[in-house]
Amino acid sequence: MTNKTSTAGKTILCIGAGYVGGPTMAMIAAKCPEHRVIVVDIDEKRIKAWLSDELPIYEPGLLELVRTCRNRNLFFSTDIAAGIRDADIIFVSVNTPTKTFGIGAGRAADLQYWEKTARQILDHAGSDKIVVEKSTLPVRTAEAMERILYSRKGTVRFDVLSNPEFLAEGTAVRDLEKPDRILVGGRETEDGRAAAKTLADIYAHWVPREKILTTNVWSSELSKLAANAFLAQRISSINSLSALCEATEADVSEISRAVGMDSRIGPKFLNASVGFGGSCFKKDILNLVYLCEHYGLKEVAEYWQAVLKINDYQGQRFVTNMVAQLFNTVAGKRIALFGFAFKADTGDTRESPAIHVARKLIAERAEVVISDPKALENAKRDLADLSGQVVFEPDPYAAAAGAHAIAVLTEWPQFRELDYGRIYRGMVQPAFVFDGRNLLDARALHKIGFNVHPIGRTPLSHL
Ligand SMILES: NC(=O)c1ccc[n+]([C@@H]2O[C@H](COP(=O)([O-])OP(=O)(O)OC[C@H]3O[C@@H](n4cnc5c(N)ncnc54)[C@H](O)[C@@H]3O)[C@@H](O)[C@H]2O)c1
Repeated sequence: MTNKTSTAGKTILCIGAGYVGGPTMAMIAAKCPEHRVIVVDIDEKRIKAWLSDELPIYEPGLLELVRTCRNRNLFFSTDIAAGIRDADIIFVSVNTPTKTFGIGAGRAADLQYWEKTARQILDHAGSDKIVVEKSTLPVRTAEAMERILYSRKGTVRFDVLSNPEFLAEGTAVRDLEKPDRILVGGRETEDGRAAAKTLADIYAHWVPREKILTTNVWSSELSKLAANAFLAQRISSINSLSALCEATEADVSEISRAVGMDSRIGPKFLNASVGFGGSCFKKDILNLVYLCEHYGLKEVAEYWQAVLKINDYQGQRFVTNMVAQLFNTVAGKRIALFGFAFKADTGDTRESPAIHVARKLIAERAEVVISDPKALENAKRDLADLSGQVVFEPDPYAAAAGAHAIAVLTEWPQFRELDYGRIYRGMVQPAFVFDGRNLLDARALHKIGFNVHPIGRTPLSHL
């Protein structure tokens, strides 16, 4: 046995330097100066960026956090083999996107990066390792990992744990510093319990013990899918009601407030919007649906699938309404999209509803101009096939100049602070605001002269 279950300083490796791997390891390194933390990735450019002050992802407070421990006990590298060799604990935080081919295409998780990692660990591990699933995975993936790791005769021992990450982009540093809970799933054997304790001890450097839950591996894996499904379900629930509000002159913000004050329900995640995005919700629900179908649970699968159906419906409804209000044609009309990130305080655009809105408007031959404080580079990549048909403009005033309409698609607080009188004067009249986040003061905009179309509320129109 190595010292992997003792309390001595350990070498911790994280495979995958993305939105989860980078920030999570920076927090562990900052809070556990006695451990050496190495983050590796196959993507050289990403590693270079982690070594610079232009980090590959934007998160408030992340650069400051990284600077406190980089080159002290936090290191970034592309040498995966050496990382594996030296590590006591290996976090695997690679991407697990939805499969785009073959069996389960469009629904199941694509586990090719995951499996490759398992094989790399097997190839290079010369001593006992604790292997931690940090990525979000289908329930019972740890079993597959164990099978690969034990597929060769050898003396190296692997303990596979599940430790899903619950951070939210935009608040990653805060979430990592003060998590609602840490979940550690391990085998119910002596070795499994010892490995789970080793991992729990790391988090206990800064997380109160009562917030560190240990469960069996399968519960831990499924809890992550369940948490994301519940969160997305709340958004789809309020969004479904926003459509009813628009039909009945009820106000969805008032509904959210009244419903959210019920202590059994709570106020969070009840804001109606153009829909949820991000790399996780859709993929994790698809994964859940696929699992349910795999186990013959058709009704359960249909129940969760409906959460995605409402999300698509909400995005479509938003664009259909824009076109209808703009006199049934947007062809040749300049339309400014305020925000492209899937939420505020991130540059991440994966599955952003803005992608769908932009594409639909371009299909209607609108002249789309996109403004976002952090996401323009990703937006350019997302719409690369439409180059020449869309303009990227960091300055929202310039984006709105000469536009017929503004669509607010990300709740960046800075959009609230703009001088809408100035913006209005530069737009084609009648000027419209479609507020896909209910971010702006609709009455104030209406007073300026805008025709304002929020989500789930009566529009304020001059027409
Ligand atoms: N983004 C989030 O907010 C979030 C939150 C919780 C959980 N998760 C889960 O965490 C996992 C990672 O998500 P992410 O957003 O950090 O993904 P990401 O795409 O930002 O990062 C994954 C990284 O893994 C690297 N990688 C892939 N295969 C590799 C290999 N064989 N060796 C070394 N590096 C490899 C990729 O180059 C990439 O940099 C996913 O399962 C996701 O569902 C994400």
